[in-house]
This record gives sequence, C-alpha cells and structure tokens, in this order.
Amino acid sequence: MTPPPLRDQLGRPLRTLRFSVTDRCNLRCQYCMPEEEYVWLPRKDLLSFEETAFLAARFAALGVRRVRITGGEPLIRIHLPELVKRLAGVPHIRDLALTTNGVLLADQAEALKAAGLHRITVSIDTLRPERFRSLTRRDRFEAVCRGIRAAREAGLAPLKLDTVVMRGFNDDEIVELFEFATAEEAEIRFIEYMDVGGATAWRPGLVFDAEAIRDVMRRRYGSVEAIPASDPAAPARRYRTPDGRAFGIIASVTEPFCRTCDRSRITADGRWFRCLYASEGTDLRGPLREGRTAREMEALIARTWSGRADRGAEERAALPDHERAPLFTASDLRSDPHQEMHTRGG
Ligand code: GTP
Ligand code: 5AD
Ligand code: SF4
Repeated sequence: MTPPPLRDQLGRPLRTLRFSVTDRCNLRCQYCMPEEEYVWLPRKDLLSFEETAFLAARFAALGVRRVRITGGEPLIRIHLPELVKRLAGVPHIRDLALTTNGVLLADQAEALKAAGLHRITVSIDTLRPERFRSLTRRDRFEAVCRGIRAAREAGLAPLKLDTVVMRGFNDDEIVELFEFATAEEAEIRFIEYMDVGGATAWRPGLVFDAEAIRDVMRRRYGSVEAIPASDPAAPARRYRTPDGRAFGIIASVTEPFCRTCDRSRITADGRWFRCLYASEGTDLRGPLREGRTAREMEALIARTWSGRADRGAEERAALPDHERAPLFTASDLRSDPHQEMHTRGG
C-alpha cells in the first residue's frame, strides 16, 4: 500500500525539488547578480553526482515527482549529462527539467536529451543584442538564440522561455518576445521582478506587474483568456490570445502562490531550503558524508518537511511598499552566499 503523502504545516505535499548544481554563472543579470564581486561556495563542498542522485532517490521515496536542475548556470558544471542520466534513472521521478541561460546550450542540447532530460526552460529577457549586453553584462545574445534553436531541434519539449520584466528596462518588448517565443514553438512566461536575496537593485517601482503585462497583451491582441490550471502548484498562470497562443505570468510579487507551493531547493553544497525566501536551510551534506543510511536521511527529510510553514512571498506581499526593500544587503550576502538567488537556484 502507498503511504499517505507527506504534508507540511499548511497541508502542502513534497513534490517538486530543484537541485542547484553550481553557484557560478557566465552572465551577470541585473536582477540576479548586479554586484561586481561575489563569494563562491568552496568547491570541496559541492555534492558529487552520486550524492545528488542519492538525495534525489530519498526525496522521491517521500513523494517528489518533479526534479529541476538549476544553478547559477547549470551548464557550467562539467559532465552535466552524467548527472542527468543518474537522475533520469531514479524511480518515481516523472518530470526532469532544467533551467538555463542558454549560453552553452547549443553544444549540449543533444547530449542532455540523450541522457534523459525531458524538457528545458531558457531565460531570455530581451531580443536586442545591445540591451542584452547591458542587462547581462556579457555579449552572448547570439549564443542564447542558437541555444534555443538547438533545444527545439533536440526535442527538449515543451520548451519554455522565462523573461523577467523590469519597468523601464524591457517592458516595451513583451509583445515582441511573445511573437519570438511562438515562432520558436516555445511558451513564454513573464516573471515579476522579485525582491529575493541577491536582487540588491530591487525597488517596488521597477516591478512591471502581472496586471500591466495582461494589459499590454490585451491592447495588442484584443483579449486574453485565462487557461484553467492543470497543476495547481505551478507558479505560472497561463493565458491564451484569441488566436489560441498561450503564455504564462509568474506573479510572485503581486499575486503570490505560496498556498499551493510544493517546491523546495537544494544548493550545490547540499543545503536544503524550503522556501525561496527562507533565511535558514537544513544541511544535508554533513549527515550524508557522516554516512547516514537511506532510512535515516529519509527520516530527517520527512521531519523537516512536516515542520514547514514558509510562505515567504505572501509575507513580503503583506508589507507596505515603503517597507519593502531587498531581502538582504550586499554585505549580508557576502557573509553568507546561501542567501543568494543564484545559489538557491531561482
Ligand atoms: P515549470 O515546471 O515549467 O512550471 O517550472 P517552474 O516555473 O517552476 O520553473 P522555472 O525555473 O522556469 O521558474 C521560473 C521562475 O519562477 C523562477 O526563476 C522564479 O523566478 C519563479 N519561481 C519558481 N519557483 C518559485 C517559488 O517557489 N516561489 C517563488 N516566489 N517564485 C518562484
Ligand atoms: N526576480 C525574478 N526572477 C528572478 N530570477 C533570478 N532573479 C530573479 C528576480 N530577482 C529567475 C528568472 C531567471 C532565472 C535564472 O532566475 O526566472 O530567468
Ligand atoms: Fe513557495 Fe516560498 Fe515561493 Fe511562496 S515564496 S511560492 S512558499 S518558495
């Protein structure tokens, strides 16, 4: 008999797990890594592929069904397809995805698909090479476009594109990005700029909110119709233009979705965070390297999930605008890089 699913304090199941496989990145996006210098996790602390797959199996035994590989930029991690292969072999995992900035994707799409990756999400915030350079501080726009094409050709479907919309930076490209995505047979999701750890340049005035995004789309296409959610725990709400093309909006700031959140994240050095906004995580690497058994690890995970009451985005949304500021200062982040979005994996 299958045991009842493990639930947290708010009744939310343990279903989706994000593994950040490196904290390093080859871009410097303004909304994520706006600083000049960063403190990196010590390399010796990074989980091996074997350790990662062992943890994935413990989580899967407790209810995890979806796994996403993130970073930093996950394609920087050498031999990543080997990890994909191991994760694809973990029983019960039925959705294995990866989030990338696309820079290195053209060379790796085929190998990732062959290793057993199901689908991919590529971040792209602008279609203008000059603007790409000022948003990411690297001149890699063409490489990302090649990566998106390669992912489509490799059959990593459904292909999704993620755009963080920042007022005054790229809010004038919403329609063009949607057209670009549909031409690439991808579904685009527009994401509100969040005040997460690492977003040290965040200000309420820079958020281009979900309603404003819907408004732009309505003005261009006549109307947008909400598509009923097939997965209540998905962060994106989906919409359709009158010609039947879909797009998503991830409104973490103005319409937070903590009530149904089944996600948690493990950093590349094995710290498990139950919320994107959580200040504390649980060290899984220590017990693992001390030689705890599979059962002992599962007991630790189950106990910790049962105590989860996090609803970070909802708590942030309840603050008045004048009290909302970046979650951590640059100096907090330097003293503990685990607070960074690029360490936690977006
Ligand atoms: P799908 O399975 O394709 O729906 O993936 P996803 O939307 O969970 O994954 P993706 O990595 O593409 O997430 C897109 C963005 O949504 C992230 O980079 C974050 O900005 C935001 N996001 C994802 N998960 C959470 C979450 O748990 N809480 C909040 N507040 N935002 C999240
Ligand atoms: N706000 C919203 N999304 C963010 N991401 C990183 N930082 C932020 C932020 N401040 C997400 C985006 C991006 C991915 C790498 O991480 O989805 O595409
Ligand atoms: Fe989940 Fe925390 Fe994001 Fe809310 S803020 S959706 S609880 S990760």
